[in-house]
Amino acid sequence: MKSAEQKRALNASVEAAHAVGKLMRQNLRLTKKVDVQSQHDIKLELDVRSQKLIEKRLATEFPEISVLGEEGSTGEQESEYRWIIDPIDGTVNFSYTIPHACVSIALQQKKGNGYQTTVGVVYDPFTDELWTAVRGQPAFLNKKKIEASKRKSLDQCIVSVGFSKSKETMDKMLPYFNSLLPRIRKVRMMGSAAMALTYVASGRFDAYIETGVQLWDIAAGGLIVECAGGEFWNQELATQHKFKVLANNGLIRKQLEKIGPL
Ligand code: IPD
Ligand code: CA
Repeated sequence: MKSAEQKRALNASVEAAHAVGKLMRQNLRLTKKVDVQSQHDIKLELDVRSQKLIEKRLATEFPEISVLGEEGSTGEQESEYRWIIDPIDGTVNFSYTIPHACVSIALQQKKGNGYQTTVGVVYDPFTDELWTAVRGQPAFLNKKKIEASKRKSLDQCIVSVGFSKSKETMDKMLPYFNSLLPRIRKVRMMGSAAMALTYVASGRFDAYIETGVQLWDIAAGGLIVECAGGEFWNQELATQHKFKVLANNGLIRKQLEKIGPL
């Protein structure tokens, strides 16, 4: 994709993210319609409405590009390009009126047997913070260049941990969490994978670890981490589009791996 096209994709994603962000701000304190809920998850009618809004905006500019999103997929799934959309990442926070949730949109291009993210946008409507990245260029927060932290010593690091949504992922993370806790400055569990990644990219967190996250949780944020000089280590699990992630500032992965198996 030429750079003018990437710019057009970035602008369309930013506009779509702002439109959904507005909807999120308007609805934060209102009663929300729950579509489905389980012990550790909630799906709102607004999730679906937000994805439709994003799809509509992106399709006016790029009608040929398919979509793979938390709220469903459209178009040819093996196409050269695809949008990866999480309309509201941090839905449980948002449902409980906790203003820590975001919109995440990535554009991916086919590479080898898989896909590679080329454009990533994450928007937090409650702080009005917009993170953007285009592969090969620096990452930006509200148009200012950002860089991952330079901390090397675990005892000074803040590490964000997620437990995802199943007993299996919780059983996996708990022993790791118990060993990690005494070795670092602080652990944080904020409830949005996409924003945990942008916080690593911005040097707020030094690392983010979770297993069982979905592609739409991490596609945009992962590129933003890489463009900010951090490391987006990830591994696809047996279920398609599910991943284990250890994103970090590029200096502490080995130390984090020594803590225990993930
Ligand atoms: C979830 C959030 C959460 C993470 C889960 C995700 P959702 O996404 O990112 O932090 O722990 O694994 O599924 O459901 O809020 O879009
Ligand atoms: Ca999500």
